[in-house]
This record gives sequence, C-alpha cells and structure tokens, in this order.
Amino acid sequence: MSAHDMTFPDNFTFGVATAAYQVEGGIENDWSEWERAGKLKEPHVRCGRAVDHWNRYEEDYGLALDVGATAFRVSLEWARIEPERGRIDGAVLEAYRERLLRMKARGLRPVVTLHHFTHPTWFHRETPWHLPGSVESFRAYARVCAPLLKGLDALVISLNEPMVLLLGGYLQGLMPPGISDGAKTMIALENMVRAHVAAREELQAVLGKVELGISQNMLAFAPDRWWHPLDRALVRLGAQAYNHAFHEALVSGHLRVNMPGIGSTRVDVPGARGSCDFIGMNYYTRAHLRFIPRPPFISFQYRDTRGRGLTDIGWELWPEGFGQILRELKRYGLPVWVTENGVDDREGQRRPAYLHNHLGQVLQARAQGVDVRGYLYWSLLDNFEWLEGWGPRFGLYYVDFETLERRPTPACHYFKEVATTRRLVPPQPSAAR
Ligand code: FCB
Repeated sequence: MSAHDMTFPDNFTFGVATAAYQVEGGIENDWSEWERAGKLKEPHVRCGRAVDHWNRYEEDYGLALDVGATAFRVSLEWARIEPERGRIDGAVLEAYRERLLRMKARGLRPVVTLHHFTHPTWFHRETPWHLPGSVESFRAYARVCAPLLKGLDALVISLNEPMVLLLGGYLQGLMPPGISDGAKTMIALENMVRAHVAAREELQAVLGKVELGISQNMLAFAPDRWWHPLDRALVRLGAQAYNHAFHEALVSGHLRVNMPGIGSTRVDVPGARGSCDFIGMNYYTRAHLRFIPRPPFISFQYRDTRGRGLTDIGWELWPEGFGQILRELKRYGLPVWVTENGVDDREGQRRPAYLHNHLGQVLQARAQGVDVRGYLYWSLLDNFEWLEGWGPRFGLYYVDFETLERRPTPACHYFKEVATTRRLVPPQPSAAR
C-alpha cells in the first residue's frame, strides 16, 4: 500500500469499548445469580465490584482521552434501571444521564449499548427471549432509556452480540438463562430482531433521528478438514447464520437461518427492513468447524495454523479474517463500525503488534471501498470476562484487581500514536518491552 493508504482520514474515529457489568461493579442481575449458582469456569469467582467504573468514571474518561480516543462505548445496565418489572429507578437514570453528559463534555462521543448480555433477574422468569413478552419488555426498557440519549449525538447499539447470547444462553445452556433447546433458540432469535425494531421505534419517538445498529460478533470460519465436504458446508452455513443472518434481517426484513442440528427459520419480520443505520462488528478470531456424526453435529476449535501462538485466552491470531469479513460487509451498503476488537495479552507485550496488524486490515478494507467509520478497542481496561472471570486481560490499561489501580500497558503509547498522527506505522520494538 502507498503512504497515503497508511493514513486514516481525520473523520475516522478511534475509541475504546466497555460494558456495564464487566466494569461498573455492584450490579445484581442474571449474571450475578449465575455466579452464585457456581456456573462460571471457577465456581467461587464473582464479578462483585468489577473495576469500580461506576465510581471512577471521570478517571476512566481521562484514561481514554490520554490514549487519543474520541469515542467511548458503554452499556446501560437494565437491572439497575428496572430492578423489578415496571419499577424504574429514577436515581439510576439521573446517574447515567450525568455520566453520559460528562463524557460528551470531555470530548468523547458516547457509543451507548442498551443491552450487553445481562438482564434483570425478573426477565428470564417472566419474559425470556423465546416468549413474545420479551419484545414488549425490551420496548418498555428502550422507552425509558431514550431520554438519556437526548442531545448527545450518540451512536446507539440496541443489542450486543445476540448470536453469542443465543448460542450461549439458549442452545448450550452455558450462560443465563441456561436453556439448551434449538427450537427455543430460533424463536428467541426472531424475538431479538423484533426487539431491535421495537427499540428503534421508541428511540425515534423521543429522539427523532437516531444512529442505531447492533454489534455482531463475527468469526472467520475454516473447515477443520479442508477436504471434507461436510466441514466445508458447515463453514458456509455457519458464516451465514452466525455472522450475517441478523444484519441481513435488519437490512432486508427477511430473517433466514439454516443450521444443521440447531434449527432453521425463514420469516419476514415486520418493520425490520432498513432498521439499522450501520453495521456493528466485533471481531476477535477464527474458528475451525468439524462435522461430527451425532448431536450437536458441529465441533469447533481454535488452531494455531501459522505458528503465531494463540492469544492467552486460546484464540487464533487471525487478522486476515478481519479484513475478509470487513470486505463481506460491503454487501450491506452501510457504514461499518468496529465496535470491538482486542486481545487477551496478560503480559501486555503482544498488543501493539496486534493493533498494528488489525488496523492494517481496516486500512486495506477502506482502500477496497468498505466504508469503515471507526474502531473501538476492546477494552479500555482489564475487566470481568464473563465465564472466564478474572484471568483474561484485554485492557489497554492493566488493572490491579486488588487496589483497582490502572496502569498503562505498552499498547497505550502505540494506540495514541496512531490515533493522533492518523498514520499506521509499525510499533517500535520499545513499545513491546
Ligand atoms: C465479546 C463481548 C465482550 C468481551 C469480549 C472479549 O464477545 O462482547 O463483552 O467479553 O468478547
């Protein structure tokens, strides 16, 4: 690529991403219940005070500004806002409004997720996603959130990674609500599309115009046995269902999924056509899929195919897949936001090179006509990583989980250099010491 191609335009946004449950602390929701039921990898682990972002938000905005970020992704915690069905906590709404206003005043564009994996505990008891009431519950919640977003020019994400929630929570039973049922998964998927549409209506009613999308986890897929027709078929169907079906529904109005061993659905969802303004993409890695001749028919694994070493959480380093999927997103004809990309690097030495390789893919995709508008690094801070608990470290800032002190990793300097000069140069070896 030419020197010109190594440059990000001035209107390209560099930002950082977080999610409420993983950073705020002091939240009672379906995940805290899940933890108490001993369902994490290590049964005694709790999220608890997380990294106390609820009290340290000013400091954390400062840390984001210090690395040259101009956008900050947060999520609103439904369980704080509506701890009991229909009872809205006004003090929490005020607190969130204050935090968003401060963010904006300090020069960070708010990127606000309404739903990032967690629910109030009443939700699964009364209106789990496979029941039609879920859509109305989410609509009511979105209605309450809408005024918080007034005048902020926020980028809004209704749902984070619905496929991860559905596969983890409704198919594999690994996440709340712990259901394992392919038919329910399919109904829940349709309801989540409807919930997005309902949220859009509520937000538009209050805000007029809103820039709304979802964040979809997108994986690069490869056949475990390159020569095996069934592994190859799984890759085709998997990519369609996992990466594309949800966005396709929001663009065309048609939800189409066909996953052997899980289920299939073909339905037109009223109001879904044209219901997202951008494609939100979270990218981390590649999965190798293998057909197995018994339920659930698919197995997947992460492989170190190039001898690059897996990341500390065990995921393949595969920036090539990032570029490939970004190019696939061109088909939607919408702007693309990378709403998460990052690496679990517990020593903090490999992150600068990771950033360099992945941002290089963004530049290449842009040069090939993909309208990528922004890149939000996951995450600003080390935080509570769901089933994995406190082991993984994705943060630009290292957090001492005892003292909660935040310390820059070598990637802070590199991120800032790229975000402020807008030029992608390789990290200096010193950045990785
Ligand atoms: C994504 C989640 C995010 C974080 C990263 C590592 O799937 O959206 O909350 O856990 O993975």
